[in-house]
Amino acid sequence: MNQQPRPRPSAPSRRRRRRKPNVSLFLARAAVAAVLALLMLGVLSAVFFLFVLPGRSGGESEESTSASVQQEPLASSAADAPLETVPVETIPGYTSKPDFLSDLDDYEMYMNPEGDEYLLLVNSESTLDASHVPDDLTDLADTRKDGRNTQQMRLYAAKALEAMFIELRACGYTDVSVTSAYRAYSYQSYLFNMYTDQEMSRNPSLTRAQAEAITETYSARPGTSEHQTGLCCDMHNLGSADVAFAKQKAAVWLKENAHKFGFILRYPEDKTEITGISFEPWHFRYVGRQHATAIYEAGLCLEEYILQRKGG
Ligand code: DAL
Ligand code: ZN
Repeated sequence: MNQQPRPRPSAPSRRRRRRKPNVSLFLARAAVAAVLALLMLGVLSAVFFLFVLPGRSGGESEESTSASVQQEPLASSAADAPLETVPVETIPGYTSKPDFLSDLDDYEMYMNPEGDEYLLLVNSESTLDASHVPDDLTDLADTRKDGRNTQQMRLYAAKALEAMFIELRACGYTDVSVTSAYRAYSYQSYLFNMYTDQEMSRNPSLTRAQAEAITETYSARPGTSEHQTGLCCDMHNLGSADVAFAKQKAAVWLKENAHKFGFILRYPEDKTEITGISFEPWHFRYVGRQHATAIYEAGLCLEEYILQRKGG
């Protein structure tokens, strides 16, 4: 067969074909370059977030808060916000020197500390390490005298409480006493398990998890109780803590006056949805007069107040 030889392209046309851009090759190379760039960016970001960032923020939080206080979950954007300073002149109802029947001048510094040191929030989401023990625990003279151990609170809280008891007695309420104050993690653990056991014996159909869910509405899980802070106490005039105390005149006095001494009613009846704890008319928490007055006058609970102060 007479095959026609394929015409060789002329020299100019060969040059043109070599120079013609190969679009697919170019796109493939660009894609590989983009993937490599993204991979490098990912590796650099991972190094930054895993190694550089934790080192920096960990150091800061250890300096600014107790090392054993775990911070609120990151889910709450307000959790890490700093507390806004509130000038005392803007706190409704605040007076640096309330009228007392008793001479409480020596207690002023304890009832009215400056700053936010005692505004610590401890609840099911903002917890304490098992090893957290305050280093200024002080005996409470107003511990119930029924053979129990002398209860303790942190120094400023203990002295402010002493002042409140002096005034409480001066107002005629002489039968209230402290039944529980600072509790170690291990003791809170014992209490929580004991109450959970009681719930299970009362209702044997409950699983342990179900019983614990009931218990934690009145007894905090270990690490989530503010009794471990040494900044709160239970006080009443009954055989055991009971909501019936709320009806006593002494309880009404405490509810209406505790803020002047630096205390708040920590688990109010109308805030159980927020605190997660049922009404406890006997549980008072020290935060200092300025915060206590702001909280009392605004009708907030501690969770709400701290969120508000963080701009939430
Ligand atoms: N009863 C309070 C909630 C506590 O156990 O800390
Ligand atoms: Zn309590």
